[in-house]
Amino acid sequence: MKIRKAVIPVAGFGTRLLPASKAIPKEMLTIVDRPTIQYIVEEAVASGIDEVILITSEGKAAIENHFDYNFELETILEEKNKTELCEEIGHISNLIDIVSVRQKKPLGLGHAIWSARNVVGNEPFVVLLGDDLVLSETPCVRQMLDLYDEKQESIVAIQKVPHDQTFQYGIVEGAAVGDRVFKIDRMVEKPPPGTTDSNLAIIGRYILKPEIFDLLSQTTPGHGGEIQLTDALLALSKKRTMYAYEFEGTRFDAGDKLGLLQAITAYGLRHPVVGEDYKSHLKNVCSNLK
Ligand code: G1P
Repeated sequence: MKIRKAVIPVAGFGTRLLPASKAIPKEMLTIVDRPTIQYIVEEAVASGIDEVILITSEGKAAIENHFDYNFELETILEEKNKTELCEEIGHISNLIDIVSVRQKKPLGLGHAIWSARNVVGNEPFVVLLGDDLVLSETPCVRQMLDLYDEKQESIVAIQKVPHDQTFQYGIVEGAAVGDRVFKIDRMVEKPPPGTTDSNLAIIGRYILKPEIFDLLSQTTPGHGGEIQLTDALLALSKKRTMYAYEFEGTRFDAGDKLGLLQAITAYGLRHPVVGEDYKSHLKNVCSNLK
């Protein structure tokens, strides 16, 4: 069965980016010339997804507006003969069908995903977390969908992280069963330092079977007092085979100050219009660094 739907939770407060995220959703902060959420939605589209389900909360309307048709703006751009810009703006509203679902209470990532159950229905789906930007030749979700075609089982994206950073992630323990593919034995959300030998960290891309919704409804609060997706995934891995996939590409944590800067640099250098000038600027800055 073709995977058609992507769930993108955007209900979080973005505390790591305060004060920038006080009145603006963190997903709307800019990487060069577009908000981070646009890169995420574009990854889903480029991977062949047909429908995006945003899990939102109060104060996130700017995200919905960004993907909506803006008649006034497009009319003004047309009148001023700014055709290219007008087409670019129109392109955003035509990217993909977007549905919004409110997460009624801030009970954690697991609860946010559970909020999508009625819109997803009984089919496998993709989850993309808005903090994680992946720069890669083949979109990260596409790489995972190709593996799903072969395995037909749930998959989480992982990358190896330094052992002293494992406490910041969901960690997967398992054995390699192929090139970049691991069969999952155990998963733990943000393990205290020294409690796991594994450094396989979950990155915000998942392919999930719909049975995850029942498991989420039975999941009790875990790390940080929140309903954790990782805990429900652990339950799923006990019932069915689950895989971890070490994707090809570079991941940026755009929900963090340094990660956001690193993303801006990477995407800025690749930008078709300002990339070359930005590179000269960076060279200049670097040569003057002490
Ligand atoms: C979430 C997940 C965690 C994962 C991380 C990746 O945590 O719960 O398992 O490793 O995303 O970005 P968060 O960063 O939202 O606390």
